[in-house]
Amino acid sequence: MSSIEVEQLDGLPFGARIRGVNWAVLKDEDARRQLGAAFQDRGVLVFEDVEPSSEMQAAISRIFGPLKDHPIKAVSRVDGQRFLGVIEIKPQPGRTPIVEVDGQLRVNWQPWHFDHFYNNELNRGGVLRSVITPPEGGQTAFADGIQLYDALSAQLRAAIEDKNIIYSYEMLLFDHQRFGLPRNFRQVRGPDEENAQSVLDTARSLPRAIHPAVWTRSSGERVLHVSGYGAVGIEGHENPEGDALLEAVCQEIRAKAKAYVHEWRPSDMVVWDNWRMLHEGFGVHPKHDRCVHRTTIQGDYGLGYWENKAAPAQAVPTGY
Ligand SMILES: [Fe+2]
Repeated sequence: MSSIEVEQLDGLPFGARIRGVNWAVLKDEDARRQLGAAFQDRGVLVFEDVEPSSEMQAAISRIFGPLKDHPIKAVSRVDGQRFLGVIEIKPQPGRTPIVEVDGQLRVNWQPWHFDHFYNNELNRGGVLRSVITPPEGGQTAFADGIQLYDALSAQLRAAIEDKNIIYSYEMLLFDHQRFGLPRNFRQVRGPDEENAQSVLDTARSLPRAIHPAVWTRSSGERVLHVSGYGAVGIEGHENPEGDALLEAVCQEIRAKAKAYVHEWRPSDMVVWDNWRMLHEGFGVHPKHDRCVHRTTIQGDYGLGYWENKAAPAQAVPTGY
């Protein structure tokens, strides 16, 4: 018997808190199976009081699948030559965009999305750890696509559930964003020219990626899996009616998500199911330091594809 505790997360219909994970537990096959089952069932696992190291972060990640390497040199790997699969995410003063949301300045803000929307293949998920936690802000929120599918109005659900959503890498630039932004959002300062050009160059090398708006898990649940961040439009409906439908769904996601908002402590790690959950980075005021480490766990759901079955001209980034 393993000694881990699995507890439901704050009365939500998804998520679990996990206590008792250490190096001995990670060698225990029963514990690994229990954690794998909790991940599939609950979508987000919050590991409390784990050793705050990259080695532990990579080891927890590998419970859920092998790790992806990172083809983009511009994204810092925290482990130098000895690759553990952990990348660093932190604002670069003078280079990272600054936005204003709810009247507050933020860097590293990201609206609801799933990772790798710009790729035909998704990743299984990732493990996040906050290495420098600011005194305010910096939270990460998670919303459940199963809950969102059930919460959608009958009219929107009927309109969106057989549609496919087109995504493009260039939509990482906020001034290209079309869908799902908060009403009171504005970009105060864009990325520096080199960063913006690098996003546009990468976007040109990739076909547009397409993913279903709704899909069905092997256990039968329907999942609303739409990322306004990154979306270009609805396949076959790139017109005002299609755009209005997609924006209505994105705003409904903002309004109806029963979110879990994680307040970071140094000994926490969080894994999420990227086929099911959306996540949102609250960002931080530019005056504060912040640094998070993330792993990228391999594993595709097999439902995405490149537009016109085109092939990308270069390796597809995995940093967002
Ligand atoms: Fe993300």
